[in-house]
Amino acid sequence: MINLDKYSSIFIANWKLNGNSLFLKDYYEKLKVNSNNCTIICSPSIYLKSLKGDKENLFCGAQDVSSFKEGAYTGELSAAMLKDNNIDFCLVGHSERRQYFAETSKNVNVKSKNLIEENIIPVICIGETLEQKENKLTEEILFTQIKNSIPISANQQNALIAYEPVWAIGTGLTPTLDEINQVHELIKNFDKKYINFKVLYGGSVKSSNSKEITQLNYVDGCLIGGASLKVDEFNKIIS
Ligand code: 13P
Repeated sequence: MINLDKYSSIFIANWKLNGNSLFLKDYYEKLKVNSNNCTIICSPSIYLKSLKGDKENLFCGAQDVSSFKEGAYTGELSAAMLKDNNIDFCLVGHSERRQYFAETSKNVNVKSKNLIEENIIPVICIGETLEQKENKLTEEILFTQIKNSIPISANQQNALIAYEPVWAIGTGLTPTLDEINQVHELIKNFDKKYINFKVLYGGSVKSSNSKEITQLNYVDGCLIGGASLKVDEFNKIIS
């Protein structure tokens, strides 16, 4: 398992359903990994193996995993298969999976547990919708998601939490820096078990705001969607 404590920040690129072989080759050639930081690229699964090069402190992550371990489940990829392909991280419970694929916190819990058993670090995503925020339900929603999504076996060494407000994803909107810091503090204080968990922020992160966000006391890194698709922009974020 990767020792996360040796890095000052963690940056994860979530390519979502984007990219192809040519894009990947060009991206890898131009990517400038900073040795103080842990950089993780979550490409579509079929390309993960081609991203495995010789750059130090660069890791691959899947965007999802099956909750099943093996059997007649057409189209699925198990945690053991990811491990077999030397994948070290996996996003779980991204809001797009929760929204478009009806993924529940219970599914996220099982997936995370299976990943931890295979020594893969789950990046457990949580976040409130705009409606929930406007109805002042953020704290309650995040607490419920954390309680139900994070398995008992998770700890600060073998799992990561990503706070992604759903309304900030792909919209160009972000909470204020104070709001981000406060929510991260809240997450770490839900229970003493989480106090040392690393919590990443995601939602409209770009090179013009990444530094200020990453420097916040309770923020341990960023999960980046759109801006991670432009390698020059991503290089600025991780530099
Ligand atoms: P954007 O950075 O495009 O807002 O996406 C965030 C995200 O969903 C990363 O997982």
